[in-house]
Amino acid sequence: MSVKIGAGHIGIVGAGLVGGGWTIVFARAGEQVRVYDAAADIRDRFMEIVAGQLDDLKTYDLLDEPAAILGRIIICDNLGEVVEGARFIQESVFEQTDVKTEISNAIGPLLSDGAIVGSSTSGIPSSAFTEHVVNRERFLVTHPVNPPYLAPIVEVVPAPWTAKDAIDGALALMTAVGQSPVLVRREVEGFILNRLQGVLLREAWDLYQEGYASAEDIDKTVSEGLGLRWSFMGPFETIDMNAPGGVADYAERLGPLYHSIQKSRTDPQPWSAELISAVDNERRAKLPMEKLAERRKWRDRRLMALAAHRSKQASE
Ligand SMILES: NC(=O)c1ccc[n+]([C@@H]2O[C@H](COP(=O)([O-])OP(=O)(O)OC[C@H]3O[C@@H](n4cnc5c(N)ncnc54)[C@H](O)[C@@H]3O)[C@@H](O)[C@H]2O)c1
Repeated sequence: MSVKIGAGHIGIVGAGLVGGGWTIVFARAGEQVRVYDAAADIRDRFMEIVAGQLDDLKTYDLLDEPAAILGRIIICDNLGEVVEGARFIQESVFEQTDVKTEISNAIGPLLSDGAIVGSSTSGIPSSAFTEHVVNRERFLVTHPVNPPYLAPIVEVVPAPWTAKDAIDGALALMTAVGQSPVLVRREVEGFILNRLQGVLLREAWDLYQEGYASAEDIDKTVSEGLGLRWSFMGPFETIDMNAPGGVADYAERLGPLYHSIQKSRTDPQPWSAELISAVDNERRAKLPMEKLAERRKWRDRRLMALAAHRSKQASE
């Protein structure tokens, strides 16, 4: 393909689950988007997959013109067409340090002046794969939640050498395209989101292993309880609401309980094969493997309904 590259488009490198989601975020916001994936079969199926997701979003009144959005997306068969001339590149290749290093090395020398590269990595600090990259001060992490067009959070995590204007540019762009960026001031494994999720998962596995409840009942505690509030407020605001005198009062009343719980978990273990197999058996009895994809679609439809509710709430 030899299309002339316009100035200032968005480049997507890696067009799997997350790269596809990012494509919708940017194209929905009016950006011209160029997409590259190393796998020919992924490139061949890409537009059809995105078109299906756009139709679903339209069903939930979350966008108006799927065809216009689709018209802003071009799938390319080489990296240069996507990176050259782009003002922002979102990298979403496999979660392996060597793969991220290789693609960052390929992207770095092709960057236009001022371009920024955000990685979708779920937990690898970008300093682990950009140290020797050309233009390394233009690289940082922009970690989404899947699918990014329904869950707006983006963790922006600079490496020690990321330039301040690249950090500011990433935060501004994410806000402009309708995402909700948070700045993680310095690198930490797992960033904020997966560290929070990790604490909850660790306790869920432990409670299950110790036989306190079924996986279904542990899940229900979140879906029918904690998670309802968490869809619109975080843990600090939650506890601020849960004592007459706010967060300080809550800390005085319940701080000792949480401290005691924390002290009871002193020796973290890997999730064992037996434990994983036990939870897997319970899950597969409830949801056979062949119904997993259907349930994932159900989840996305529930998220769309929630996004529609939130956007109505925001305009009230
Ligand atoms: N899946 C999630 O829930 C989720 C959420 C947030 C962040 N992430 C992160 O996003 C990234 C992508 O994850 P995913 O779930 O989309 O994986 P995926 O396997 O669906 O997609 C990865 C894509 O990258 C392509 N690829 C690999 N090497 C490449 C290269 N050198 N050049 C171009 N394309 C290349 C692959 O062909 C594949 O299509 C990972 O870093 C992951 O940790 C995933």
